[in-house]
Amino acid sequence: MPITTCVFDAYGTLFDVAAAARECAAEPGREAFGAKWQQVATDWRLKQLQYTWLRGLADAHTDFWEVTQNGLDYALEASNLTGDAELRERLLALYWQLSAYSEVPAMLTALKSAGLNTAILSNGSPDMLSGAVQSAGVGAVLDDVLSVQDVGVFKPHKSVYGMVGVRFNCQPGEVLFVSSNCWDACCAAGNGFFTAWVNRAGEPMDRLPWQPQVVLSDLTTIPDIAAAN
Ligand code: LAC
Repeated sequence: MPITTCVFDAYGTLFDVAAAARECAAEPGREAFGAKWQQVATDWRLKQLQYTWLRGLADAHTDFWEVTQNGLDYALEASNLTGDAELRERLLALYWQLSAYSEVPAMLTALKSAGLNTAILSNGSPDMLSGAVQSAGVGAVLDDVLSVQDVGVFKPHKSVYGMVGVRFNCQPGEVLFVSSNCWDACCAAGNGFFTAWVNRAGEPMDRLPWQPQVVLSDLTTIPDIAAAN
């Protein structure tokens, strides 16, 4: 079944989630944070994701902005930075304007030129996603931005992946799903999507019942993969 629809995870896939901490650390007067930003960025992301999974299991959904703040508070405390309220506010503000990876605009433009549907499917709340799409300047090459807020549960719940077929009136086999989160790519493959894992950091494959069909180091070849499948 030919690919008609290309769907992207947002955070870590199109948008660089480490950019908030990295850019903050480069600001004047942030020397103390400069020594710790990488650990904060790692803990922030890990806790943010863990809280989405735990809230899904506990049937305690909230919006992604709340778990993003909860994850940051954990990360700041773990690095003994709890008292710096201004730092916290700055990091949160930067999360609304994450930069896109450099190849993203040309890649999405190529998909649209080839006549494919393009969308984001993300845990992000609609307002967070709208901020990121706007600051990356990619709104014109996306047909839609789908948020889990419409189904009230985080990834990898099946109802999240089910949003794509409803929106684009397509079969799972027509969808190329792209994520930098291995667990997301695996679970999307389990849903029947043709799946690409963007493994920028060279991490091991998650041990789950399903695997992505393709593993990439960045997004540049996505239009070729969509055309060939
Ligand atoms: C998202 C997270 C999982 O955008 O990166 O859904």
